[in-house]
Amino acid sequence: MLRIVVCVSGGGTNLQAILDAMDSGLITNTEIIAVISNNAGAKALDRARARNIPAILMSPKAYPDREAFNEAFTARMCELAPDLVVLAGFLVKIPVQMVERFGGRIINIHPSLIPSFCGVGYYGLKVHEKVLERGVKITGATVHFINEEMDEGPIIAQKAVTVEEGDTPELLQRRVMEQAEWILLPKAIDDIANGRIKVKDGKVYGCL
Ligand code: GAR
Repeated sequence: MLRIVVCVSGGGTNLQAILDAMDSGLITNTEIIAVISNNAGAKALDRARARNIPAILMSPKAYPDREAFNEAFTARMCELAPDLVVLAGFLVKIPVQMVERFGGRIINIHPSLIPSFCGVGYYGLKVHEKVLERGVKITGATVHFINEEMDEGPIIAQKAVTVEEGDTPELLQRRVMEQAEWILLPKAIDDIANGRIKVKDGKVYGCL
């Protein structure tokens, strides 16, 4: 059984997609042992509580500085000792000590086709705003392992989504979620839980 911790900052629709996939059998062999958010108002925490999943608030604002938060966050994760950490719309930079401790066992969903529209300043709706500003015709989403650099770890899966005439950032965000994110992230978790994904020398191997 793959024991996962899901980290979320906001609405938690990707968390909901994971929960739905577990209910419907699209994800097997997996248990969510906790949901962590940096944001007390995150709807994702309510989604977890509704399922009796421990909902943990870890806000940088509660610590004197970023390093104190990084230490506390990493210590909490070590106590939970998950097999996999899933960043499902988590907008906090993962501390380097956590990357060292959980190397190769942290995955992230990003709402673009990496390496386009990623890195510092590219998160949530901002990604879709920049996609529309640039006028690209194809965007999408990426699931990847994380490393010390923002959005640079080995790619597990990507799915393209068409940008349509008249799109707003909100419309495009919704289409990318529906057509890519909510499919890719549950599938990646199921593939990891069932031993179909392996990482060797910084490259992902498997059935994808
Ligand atoms: C999602 O679109 C996710 O890909 C993005 O934040 C949104 C969270 O939505 N993540 C990033 O931008 C990470 N760089 P959700 O809370 O409804 O799942």
